[in-house]
Amino acid sequence: MKFKFSSFEVDDGMLHSAAVITAATFSCLMSGFVLQNIWRKYIVRQRIKRRREESKLSIQKMGDYLMQHGLSVDKRNIILDMPMAELQRKLQNGSLKALDVLRAYQSKAIEVTKDLNCVVEPIWEAEEQAIACDFMTGKKSPLHGIPVSLKENYHVQGYDSTGGMAKFIDCPQPDDNVIVKTLKEQGAIPFMRTNLPQTMMVYESSNPIYGETRNPHDPKRGPGGSSSGEGCLIGAGGSVLGFGTDIGGSLRIPAHMCGVCCLKPTVGRISTEGTHEVHKGATLVPGATGPLSRDVDGLVLAMKSLLVSHMFELDRSVPPIPFRPEIYEDHRPLRIGYFHDIGYMPSVPACERGVREVREILEKNGHTLIEFKVPRVDKALELFAQCVFGDGCKTFTDALKYDVVDPSFKLTYFLIHQAPEWLKRVAGFFYRTVGHDPIPKKVLVAAAGIKSVSKWWGVVEDLQAYRKKFEMEMRANKLDAIISPGFAYAAIPLGKAFLTVGAVAYTNLYNVINYPAGSLPVTKVTEEDEKLLENYPTKTLYAKNIKKLSKGSVGLPINVQFVAPPYQEELVLRLMKEVETSIKLGERHS
Ligand SMILES: *[C@@H]1O[C@H](CO)[C@@H](O)[C@H](O)[C@H]1NC(C)=O
Repeated sequence: MKFKFSSFEVDDGMLHSAAVITAATFSCLMSGFVLQNIWRKYIVRQRIKRRREESKLSIQKMGDYLMQHGLSVDKRNIILDMPMAELQRKLQNGSLKALDVLRAYQSKAIEVTKDLNCVVEPIWEAEEQAIACDFMTGKKSPLHGIPVSLKENYHVQGYDSTGGMAKFIDCPQPDDNVIVKTLKEQGAIPFMRTNLPQTMMVYESSNPIYGETRNPHDPKRGPGGSSSGEGCLIGAGGSVLGFGTDIGGSLRIPAHMCGVCCLKPTVGRISTEGTHEVHKGATLVPGATGPLSRDVDGLVLAMKSLLVSHMFELDRSVPPIPFRPEIYEDHRPLRIGYFHDIGYMPSVPACERGVREVREILEKNGHTLIEFKVPRVDKALELFAQCVFGDGCKTFTDALKYDVVDPSFKLTYFLIHQAPEWLKRVAGFFYRTVGHDPIPKKVLVAAAGIKSVSKWWGVVEDLQAYRKKFEMEMRANKLDAIISPGFAYAAIPLGKAFLTVGAVAYTNLYNVINYPAGSLPVTKVTEEDEKLLENYPTKTLYAKNIKKLSKGSVGLPINVQFVAPPYQEELVLRLMKEVETSIKLGERHS
């Protein structure tokens, strides 16, 4: 057979050899590609393994070291039992040594991480710093000798900030971030780095490098995320003050599930420079940095110590507004909005009771409480997905290209980040028809990305409109603040967050509108709450899962969120302190 082309003729033989050459080249390329992929994945696995071993070894070494240099158990426990204010006073007046306080917390942290896996590694430089503190003469800084733990994504000089992703192993940070520098300047001693879920975009607690963190109140349950290790370590008594990040609830969810306090400030109030996040480009709804602590005094001390000229000088994008004691110490009665149902899925009975009890306390203290209806929560959720996944999740998939994807993250990763748009639509259809819930579809379609700059500008306008609507709603009711559930439910079994992920509306609402939000432990799940759970409405798939996974949660902590308009951190803290004081008084009387 002959093919006749215009300029030359091709016979069978030539055609055959051309085909063979093409096929050979193609298969060479393909197998090269496949081999390269296998090789890369192999290298990544080796790297993960080595990093994990180094981390375990460092923790073990610290344990061995403390065997030689630790405190007596009695002395240790006296220090560990001190609330923040007492600890600070005693460090200030010299009746406690910084080194002893450090030893006490080091030893407790190393002890609890054995079962809970909340610590990634110790910060070895802490010792030298504590000794320097004890040798210091003259006026002491406010955080003098106070040990602080840091979420692994906080840049600390000489340590990797991986966010649970192998790609960032062996990239030691050249410098401390602005918050770490300011904390040190104020006398604090960073002493432990804590765990987080891979990519930090789920409220799970596991990654292939450091493994899975468990809940200090029930190790079969999760601590929430993504500041998982912080919530867990402070909840277990191994740290008195810590720092994390929050783009959709990552400070507040673990605070709620582990029963600790936290504050997510307005983004901009304190520096966010030098924290590892995969979505730094998503500036419309950016991540916040903030403190977690055992009590409200810890949060107040942290904010007072950070809002100083040292930080304003290091990060000039932060408005130089110092801590305003006149707002924090004010006693003026306020008008406070409340809700227990965000208008998408109701919170479980224990969370509802938490809000009710706080409401009663505030009313008793002379405030006016008014029921508040959250405007269009579906829109808030859609905006969140549009803003945070605007690039169609490309940064995420790039960051995880050759990585081992954590089992707790696989489903989320596949559905939100990897799946093509048509599959997201099919999944959305499933949620709508089988799950009786139209919202996941909006979120999934939004996660397919924004297609053009003009569409992106449209999102900006929508976001501004939503924020304005929320503001007007608060104005119409003359509200100074809002209280709402700490989350939709208490801690659930490990690895199940994906099945209930719509609950994130309870926290990411305040990221979308960029309001400061604090979280305070107020009660624990009771038998009565558990009985009432039987009547929990299960119209949607998520709600069904929440009901199922919430069973057996008696005794778990329940928080309430305190929220105020942008830059009113002091007002949030004032209300938290008021309620905390009333609860403590009530406990003492009963
Ligand atoms: C230091 O402060 C603590 C707590 O306020 C107090 O109990 C203690 O007596 C003080 N010690 C000294 C040496 O002033």
